Amino acid sequence: MKEIPFQYQVFENVSALSPEDASLLLQARAITSHAYAPYSHFNVGAIALLNDGSRVEGTNQENASYPVGICAERVLLSAVASLHRNQAIKTIAISYYNENGKSNNPVSPCGICRQSLLEQTLRQQQPIRLILSGQEGPIYIIEDATTLLPLSFTANDMQ
Ligand code: THU
Repeated sequence: MKEIPFQYQVFENVSALSPEDASLLLQARAITSHAYAPYSHFNVGAIALLNDGSRVEGTNQENASYPVGICAERVLLSAVASLHRNQAIKTIAISYYNENGKSNNPVSPCGICRQSLLEQTLRQQQPIRLILSGQEGPIYIIEDATTLLPLSFTANDMQ
């Protein structure tokens, strides 16, 4: 039997974070109001901190044709790749506001976004840290987003 370890840190609230992480998370919480989510009413905000210190935001953008909608994380990754081409992403803080329910437990990126985070990590050759939290409640920190996708498929598999 083989085992793949997965580790993440849990913090009780923003005051337990470093000032930089706290500020990123507060920004992710705030920009959930920029989401376009008239169908799910589930507003997601993602903020990237780049190596040069700049920050880029992404929010989910839905569509009347539901599968056309794009998650906040992939909106963000595309924005970084287009507008900050040579900058690696250090950390991404992700939060959400659920208009129909509670927003007090972290959510983590969906499967497609995990694959996109993996591609970006390989491209920039530097791990991407994730800070996950709702509008309140516990905060999860994952040091390397690729650990969310064990036994993943990458370009190496096609050689
Ligand atoms: N969504 C994200 O933007 N990121 C996630 O990590 C999970 C889900 C969006 C997609 C859709 O617009 C809405 O949340 C409900 O699934």
